[in-house]
Amino acid sequence: MVGINTVGVVGLGTMGAGIVEVFARNGLNVVAVEISDGALDRGRANLTGSTDRAVAKGKLAAEDRDALLARVDFQVGLGALAEVDFVIEAVPEHLDLKQKIFAELDRVCKPEAILATNTSSLSVTEISVATHRPNRVIGVHFFNPAPVMKLVEVIKTVVTADEVVADVEALCARLGKVDVTIADRAGFIANALLFGYLNHAVAMVEARYATREDIDAAMRLGCGLPMGPLALMDLIGLDTAYEILDTMYRRGGRDRRHAPAPLLKQMVTAGLLGRKSGRGFYTYEKAGSPVVVADELTPAEGTSVEGARAVGTVGVVGSGTMATGIIEVFTKAGFEVTSVTRGGEKSAKLCEALKVNLNKSVVRGRLTEEERDAILNRVTWSTNLEHLSDVDMVVEAVVEELTVKKALFASLDEICKPGVVLATTTSSLPVIECAMATQRPADVVGLHFFNPAPAMKLVEVVRTIRTSSSTEATALAVCDRLGKHGVRCEDRSGFIVNALLFPYLNDAVKMLEASYATADDIDYAMKLGCGYPMGPFELLDVVGLDVALAIQRELYLELREPGFSPAPLLEHLVTAGYLGRKAGRGFRDHTGR
Ligand SMILES: NC(=O)c1ccc[n+]([C@@H]2O[C@H](COP(=O)([O-])OP(=O)(O)OC[C@H]3O[C@@H](n4cnc5c(N)ncnc54)[C@H](O)[C@@H]3O)[C@@H](O)[C@H]2O)c1
Repeated sequence: MVGINTVGVVGLGTMGAGIVEVFARNGLNVVAVEISDGALDRGRANLTGSTDRAVAKGKLAAEDRDALLARVDFQVGLGALAEVDFVIEAVPEHLDLKQKIFAELDRVCKPEAILATNTSSLSVTEISVATHRPNRVIGVHFFNPAPVMKLVEVIKTVVTADEVVADVEALCARLGKVDVTIADRAGFIANALLFGYLNHAVAMVEARYATREDIDAAMRLGCGLPMGPLALMDLIGLDTAYEILDTMYRRGGRDRRHAPAPLLKQMVTAGLLGRKSGRGFYTYEKAGSPVVVADELTPAEGTSVEGARAVGTVGVVGSGTMATGIIEVFTKAGFEVTSVTRGGEKSAKLCEALKVNLNKSVVRGRLTEEERDAILNRVTWSTNLEHLSDVDMVVEAVVEELTVKKALFASLDEICKPGVVLATTTSSLPVIECAMATQRPADVVGLHFFNPAPAMKLVEVVRTIRTSSSTEATALAVCDRLGKHGVRCEDRSGFIVNALLFPYLNDAVKMLEASYATADDIDYAMKLGCGYPMGPFELLDVVGLDVALAIQRELYLELREPGFSPAPLLEHLVTAGYLGRKAGRGFRDHTGR
């Protein structure tokens, strides 16, 4: 094992500057190299900008910042790296450039030095053969922002020496990082799972399926992600993202989902590279700033609810988990609710479930007993749809079967007064089918709540090609009153969240099936590399493997995208009854926990 005391970083852009900071914060001396004086100044500014922000936020003492910066020796040209023990390259994602740099590093660095690449998608093996020491070449893939994200993917090629892997793993531990060591495959773990999703989100913007704000809000609020996909694209850099996708497409079996969306190429050509150039999907205060400012695409306040109709009374049909949550949400927001179920027993159970939930709020001090009683008094319990003849809006949350929903909408059409908004909470069926079961398709809209409805802020407001703008505006205004964040999208399978989430989960299953990495490593990679609240296998066990399979099948059937075909392993687990937590076993064993 060589002692690693002095390290080199080549390229001080988005990643390189962050990597310099990680090393210097942990007491290593760093030689930081750029291609020209101008680029060096920009690299230095990246580093001082980030450390100054850390000081301003109280996360770093001013004297520690000064000590950190004193450990960095800024230089132009690779010649400055003759004495380093370890060097990592973070130049743009082009194979020929990286090979050229490695050939040069091989010449200037001492023979025992380890040469590492931070590539996200290129073959580490192909980079290594540009040197005379491929056994000392390794992939060390940091995540953006490098000082924050805990994960490092260590990529061992077929020729990387075991001692080099051991030295790099020890280095990661010294940096306070968690490493996963894996083989050389396009996108490794995290990017292989992330980039199909990011590209799909770009395609949604391109198709005007939903706005950038709505797509990002949907993934933050619906999945608890730290940032939405388009904000993340801006952080990664659109040029880098383009190169990663392009390489993954070519190296990873020509999966069309990795073929970069045409919009990306156009934005890169136009110089819209994301935060680093001050403009990407969003506009930033200045180049390199994380602060978003309004631009011509920023929606003006209040315009989405213009033309909304007044809603005071609401009917909720159904008696399951979603109906219970939805009744709670509406009554808490002051609406009068008529609940309709298929029998007195069901109504009694529903009423009981609502009381239990409200009592929990009372115990937690979020509701007084008087407020609870007032809320309960706002509900009328009924088993007869005729009682909905006078409500202003109906929200349907019955079983996810099209024939049942269509029959219900046909009845509502007979019973409800004109102008009433008729909403379905379906998560996978076409809203237009419900709409066309009535004589008033313009009044029908999707209101996709998330479970548990009282806790989840997001509601997807789904317009069909027949939904009127006044109906959509009414639905959005109602979301506002409920304290929910309504996002608009069109009537396509999976709406925004499920269409972006489930293919990613399915890809994780395919990766496990291919024995590329373990379920634990994949879960770690997404949590520590991308800040996800749960790894894909943890989430699948919570959601239910049967639910995930059903949604994935719908997406595959509607879009006919070969990459969306359900993972055979997922099908087998469902057939075997391993449905996740609810069955005691899914990807993991939950009995005895
Ligand atoms: N952006 C991300 O989120 C991210 C995350 C992980 C890994 N990566 C990988 O990190 C690498 C760098 O990506 P980035 O986003 O930081 O790119 P970037 O465009 O922000 O920075 C690249 C830097 O390399 C410099 N450079 C170019 N040629 C050079 C040379 N011959 N010698 C020295 N410096 C040179 C450029 O001046 C620039 O400052 C890529 O391989 C990328 O795939 C990126």
